Amino acid sequence: MEFRHVFICVNQRPPGAPMDSCGNRGSREIYQAFMEKVQMDPELMMSVVITPTGCLGPCALGPSIVVYPEGVWYGNVKLEDVDEIINSHLKEGKVVERLVVSRGKPPGMV
Ligand code: FES
Repeated sequence: MEFRHVFICVNQRPPGAPMDSCGNRGSREIYQAFMEKVQMDPELMMSVVITPTGCLGPCALGPSIVVYPEGVWYGNVKLEDVDEIINSHLKEGKVVERLVVSRGKPPGMV
């Protein structure tokens, strides 16, 4: 299994903030689900690092996740997508195309 680093935005803006945030759309539960799956799988533990982050930029497309080394940006990720990202992308190297919002750079960057 190839090494991969997964960054998950867990930024949570306060109630009434002018912009929504990934944390308000369930990204902390998504991060927790990734951690639980990885920590229960010795092979994943040796090849995957999961890092919670602050805002990654594309808040309107959140919850936002970026996976390196491919630089694949996933958007609108839901809790039920976690298994597919793990099994397809992290284990088999097959990007989950239906969730991709950008490659190589954040969405909207030129
Ligand atoms: S709050 Fe998650 S990308 Fe901005």
